[in-house]
Amino acid sequence: MTTRWNVHRLPRAEGKTYLVTGANAGIGYHVAEQLATTGATVVLGSRSAAKADDAMASIRAVVPDARLRHLQLDLSDLASLKTSADELDSLDAVVCNAGVQIDDADLMYATNHLGHFALVHWLMPLLVGGRVVTTGSFVGKDEPPKDAYARSKQAQMLFAFELDRRVPEVMSVVNHPGGALDSLTPPRKLLSLPAALLLQGKDAGAWPAVRAVLDPDLRGGQMVGPRVFGLCGEPRIEPVRGQLADGELAARVWEESVELTGVEPRCP
Ligand SMILES: NC(=O)c1ccc[n+]([C@@H]2O[C@H](COP(=O)([O-])OP(=O)(O)OC[C@H]3O[C@@H](n4cnc5c(N)ncnc54)[C@H](OP(=O)(O)O)[C@@H]3O)[C@@H](O)[C@H]2O)c1
Repeated sequence: MTTRWNVHRLPRAEGKTYLVTGANAGIGYHVAEQLATTGATVVLGSRSAAKADDAMASIRAVVPDARLRHLQLDLSDLASLKTSADELDSLDAVVCNAGVQIDDADLMYATNHLGHFALVHWLMPLLVGGRVVTTGSFVGKDEPPKDAYARSKQAQMLFAFELDRRVPEVMSVVNHPGGALDSLTPPRKLLSLPAALLLQGKDAGAWPAVRAVLDPDLRGGQMVGPRVFGLCGEPRIEPVRGQLADGELAARVWEESVELTGVEPRCP
């Protein structure tokens, strides 16, 4: 199932425009930085202009000729998303990466899933012939998902597979980053040996999303994740199984999302 892919030799993408949500920090930042090396224009979707400015300065320190811009984007504010989408006039892919893991389950579902569902709806006129790349999680593969965060991630992944079935004019693919270190992760030396071996940085956590945007051999409905136990390493195409392959469940998530957001992604 796996084609050769070299994370250090990305295809050139001059003339393309990619939007990355939550690009001012974490994995999204690294997705933006890696995509910027291809010559593409990278739009950093962020609710904070100041944080986006800092992120763009960091990217330019690594990629001096990077083509970058900020898009004001707050996924938890559904009413604002049409205005954000209207700011763009061309788009080849959106990476639905932004995410929160918080106690407020409704706000978490709204940010992680419903916000992206509505954003994709408003971007649809630009996306025909392009890609929607949804960032799920290994916890979203669990049957059943064990908490509200995992449910929000599974909903995102089911939406992405359903989008590919319902709107064939747009290629919808899923990626998940595996387990990526952040400032809240305990130092490696305090972790058990297996956990310490399987952790990776957020730069490597960005590899599956970057492949999902750029790989010309990828097909709609496929999923890209890290090679080693789905937790770390080079990005590979992995099988879609279990609940993630449940079309009826995905259709229910879709219908409920239409009800909750009042919009429905369709080919314009
Ligand atoms: N890290 C992991 O090990 C891991 C594992 C599996 C899946 N994931 C998934 O990977 C994605 C990125 O995770 P991460 O670890 O890089 O997270 P992170 O470091 O916490 O970064 C999250 C990003 O999302 C943005 N964001 C949060 N709420 C937003 C909103 N309402 N509107 C717009 N942007 C918003 C944040 O912006 P602010 O700076 O404004 O808050 C930030 O840029 C998430 O979807 C997560 O579920 C991560």
